[in-house]
Amino acid sequence: MNMKVNLAGVELDNPVMTASGTFGSGEEYSEFVDLNRLGAVVTKGVANIPWAGNPTPRIAETYGGMINAIGLQNPGMDVFIERDIPFLKQFDTKIIVNVCGKTAEDYIEVVERLSHEPVDMLEINISCPNVKEGGIAFGQDPKAVEAITREVKKYARQPVIMKLSPNVTDITVMAKAAEAGGADVLSMINTLTGMKIDVNRRTFALANKTGGLSGPAVKPVAVRMVYQAACAVKIPIIGMGGIMTAEDALEFILAGAAAVCVGTANFVNPCATMEVIQGIEDYMIKHQVDDIYKLIGAVR
Ligand SMILES: Cc1cc2nc3c(=O)[nH]c(=O)nc-3n(C[C@H](O)[C@H](O)[C@H](O)COP(=O)(O)O)c2cc1C
Repeated sequence: MNMKVNLAGVELDNPVMTASGTFGSGEEYSEFVDLNRLGAVVTKGVANIPWAGNPTPRIAETYGGMINAIGLQNPGMDVFIERDIPFLKQFDTKIIVNVCGKTAEDYIEVVERLSHEPVDMLEINISCPNVKEGGIAFGQDPKAVEAITREVKKYARQPVIMKLSPNVTDITVMAKAAEAGGADVLSMINTLTGMKIDVNRRTFALANKTGGLSGPAVKPVAVRMVYQAACAVKIPIIGMGGIMTAEDALEFILAGAAAVCVGTANFVNPCATMEVIQGIEDYMIKHQVDDIYKLIGAVR
């Protein structure tokens, strides 16, 4: 039975990876999760310099999920390269580094630096709703999506994944723009902009006022967007948004995702990734599917 998938020349043992920002670089989870079994670890976003993130409170629970406005807190690329890459290199899994920035120059600085590191792929976050500049400012304008993709591709030595925002009118326009700019792979969805009011404090639940909604509540939106994007472009798509179980992951795969990420589920069940991998395997045995590629995009 084949569960291996190929993303722009990078072969993953199975299609299940972690969603950026929900798994650190795997250190806290290594007690619960055999990192060797993951298709890939996608790290928390890393910038050229340390970012403090947004004021607290930065997370709140919602029905079927959560909203967060962490604001891409990260230690900067120097610490990341010294501390996190050697940690991840101990395991037999692929390393995908999520990159954030406020300007095109910021992204390029990180991409250039990582091009000399033992990293398998780069995921460029142009879709964070919680930072004022960069992030989503790039991700909501197709011309900007194409331009930043083209810039990053000039400097990257690893295949480039462009992470798209669901906070747009038509995801296919953004997907095509990233493909036109030379993206090797797309990933989606990042969080949906939301708001929660704390009625007892009579103020916003998050200091940032708005935050990104994630978890099962967003899954139908995410599956729809993956399906639409998969119909619109030729490059592979990594699907995510509310995956809690193998059945959820299979929905994305059948809709056209060549790989999937498990995000918010890790906070509820630290073993979620392992259960999703096992569940896909069980499904394939039960339904006598000998190759995962027979499932990818099978629903049209
Ligand atoms: C607490 C938190 C932090 C996140 N940080 C990042 C990040 O640094 N970079 C990024 O591209 N996405 C980040 N995301 C978005 C997730 O990677 C994912 O796209 C989104 O949460 C949808 O998947 P899920 O519903 O399985 O969580 C973050 C999400 C959460 C909940």
